[in-house]
Amino acid sequence: MMGKNFSCNNVNKCRRAADLYETPYSITRQLLEVEEFPKFVLEPACGNGAIVKILEEKGHTVESYDKVQDFLLEERMFPSVVTNPPYSFAFEFIQKSKIVAQEKFALLLPIAYLHGKQRFDRIWTDYTYPLARVYVFTRYPMLGDPLREDGCYRTGMMVYAWYVWEHGYKGSPEIHWLDNNKYVIGARKK
Ligand SMILES: C[S@@+](CC[C@H](N)C(=O)[O-])C[C@H]1O[C@@H](n2cnc3c(N)ncnc32)[C@H](O)[C@@H]1O
Repeated sequence: MMGKNFSCNNVNKCRRAADLYETPYSITRQLLEVEEFPKFVLEPACGNGAIVKILEEKGHTVESYDKVQDFLLEERMFPSVVTNPPYSFAFEFIQKSKIVAQEKFALLLPIAYLHGKQRFDRIWTDYTYPLARVYVFTRYPMLGDPLREDGCYRTGMMVYAWYVWEHGYKGSPEIHWLDNNKYVIGARKK
């Protein structure tokens, strides 16, 4: 299946070189506040290491690479995978993660990824390694800006969510919301 281009989240709608849209630190921190991962994690499309930094901050041991060792050719297994994948290969990253990640994996994807006939047939109706939880950000995070140490970001034009797959999970996927208002630059504070 050919991937779709979900990466036009910057104002001039240009695709960036090498699909590099860095994940603001707070986006990963908020995931780790609500979801537990095994100690050993693979970040297979690490870019400049934005997700790796936060995983390590939380005590995880992380193996990471970016293209040099193409994830789609990975032959080893890891307890878990966490990444913000290249969106044009989101489908391939999901299918590969089901082979590589023994316990669970989390991918940051647009919420629109939930629909689509082929995705329904080949991803959402897979009950062996099913989607367990979706964490939707209440405000649109802008990906592609330089990262800030405080984890804050401008709002963008696309709704993102963390999708968590868990091997052997039973039942329908749960949906949760992550309130990211405090990380939005210029947001009205409650
Ligand atoms: C959306 S960026 C995210 C980078 C990083 N995960 C982060 O969150 O900041 C996607 C990354 O995937 C990398 N990439 C693209 N195809 C890949 C492949 N087949 N294997 C590994 N990395 C790949 C790109 O070079 C890019 O750095």
